Amino acid sequence: MLDRPGRRLSMATFDLQSILDAYGPDAGREYAAHLNPRFHDLLRLVGFDRRFVRGEGPYLWDEQGDRYLDAIGGFACLSLGRDHPVVRDALEQALRTAPPTLIQFETPPLAVALADSLKRFVDRPEDRVFFVNSGAESVEAAMKIARAATGRPGFAHWSNAFHGLTFGALSMNGAEWLRRGFEPLVPGCREVPFADPGALRAALADESVAAFFFEPVQGKGVVQHPPGVLQEVAEICRATGTLLVADEVQTGLGRAGSALASRTDGVEPDLICVSKGLSAGAIPLGAVLGSAAIFDRVFDSVERSVVHSSTFRENPLAMTNGLAVLHVLRDEGIVERSARMGAALVAGLRGVAATVPGIREVRGRGLMIGVELDPPALAIDMPGLANRTLTLVAQALVMRLLQRHRLLTQSTSKSSGVIKLVPPLVISDEDVDWIVEAFRESLQELARGRGAAVRGVLGMLQRAPGVVLRESMQ
Ligand SMILES: Cc1ncc(COP(=O)(O)O)c(C=O)c1O
Repeated sequence: MLDRPGRRLSMATFDLQSILDAYGPDAGREYAAHLNPRFHDLLRLVGFDRRFVRGEGPYLWDEQGDRYLDAIGGFACLSLGRDHPVVRDALEQALRTAPPTLIQFETPPLAVALADSLKRFVDRPEDRVFFVNSGAESVEAAMKIARAATGRPGFAHWSNAFHGLTFGALSMNGAEWLRRGFEPLVPGCREVPFADPGALRAALADESVAAFFFEPVQGKGVVQHPPGVLQEVAEICRATGTLLVADEVQTGLGRAGSALASRTDGVEPDLICVSKGLSAGAIPLGAVLGSAAIFDRVFDSVERSVVHSSTFRENPLAMTNGLAVLHVLRDEGIVERSARMGAALVAGLRGVAATVPGIREVRGRGLMIGVELDPPALAIDMPGLANRTLTLVAQALVMRLLQRHRLLTQSTSKSSGVIKLVPPLVISDEDVDWIVEAFRESLQELARGRGAAVRGVLGMLQRAPGVVLRESMQ
């Protein structure tokens, strides 16, 4: 079959490699045509418009065979790295064994096994579990469960929060630019200044809030609560009858160096959302855990036993994936490894901060680490670009880390100037050295003449002049 001029796709047998070969070389331009041209522009601007052809563990390889270290980690979901042999084998077993899928009016054994295994892993034996397909979906489910269980309409969340981008989750998002254009959102959501128990007490005082949602470590900027704050928060929630919901979509199951980051902070939430670490990236998966008493108030009759549901939530591939991931996390001591490697990485980066200009703070827990930059040490404000200096400096660093050191990183928000490191939890001591040395060299270089912002602009102009021109005219 001639699919398009010059491209032949055989329909006689399904051949994935031939599809990759056919679409791979020009995927950027075609992504622009078929999916999202402005996202393709973004990749060109920041230099991520390159083609990776292989991934294994924490590494990626490009077409030239060069090896990269991935500290973006699929937005912190690739806890076991790519293509973990145990997970691959488990998924192959699931396809071979082929338990009948999606009968829907059934009690899938693999869902039972995964719920049991997950509860043991996080040591919450009395909980019930509701499976979902993504992080945002776990937040949506928790919002609905909280409303139905309490009979209250409202929600509260911290400023700078990120709980996902579906309507409910977006309604609790701290970033105005992400909400803009999508209002009206879910009514009754109250934003509370981060880590301010007094303000939270005031926000919950009228007892109309169903649940307070928090990330144990905020993903945007990698921001931690001061010691004791979350215990005070839990107390305020108890006193006002508000459910406490930990969004552990990112922190949970090892990323922050423990099974549950909220427990490290000394709190036992009423509901817990997990996703990234449970999926580990191979098959989308998430879950909400909560007490039987809460779940029973939602699913309170035969008719209402399906009052919240979704088609794919207990599918055998996702369940198998979750079971294999928990098996590997346990078997290979990955949670402890995350804590150990994270401490080593923070220590190494603090060493860089002590000797090289450009870092204001290194913070984090486990392998969820933020490097907050000190822009004045790296850049002279340029007239007309003053409010973009932060972005440009962060971008110049991300680019140098990628081009010179083959290290994938991201800057976490428009306004924070924080480079976020969330590599697979399986990284080695050599990988820690790789990251530390990459920061040392890059910062040393960018601090020269405080030229980081200029380099940021020049780099973008070199890579995608048309995009720079169009965006600057908007
Ligand atoms: C804390 C938190 N909650 C929710 C989400 C949304 O997850 P998803 O992108 O799978 O919808 C994220 C994603 O980054 C997250 O970090």
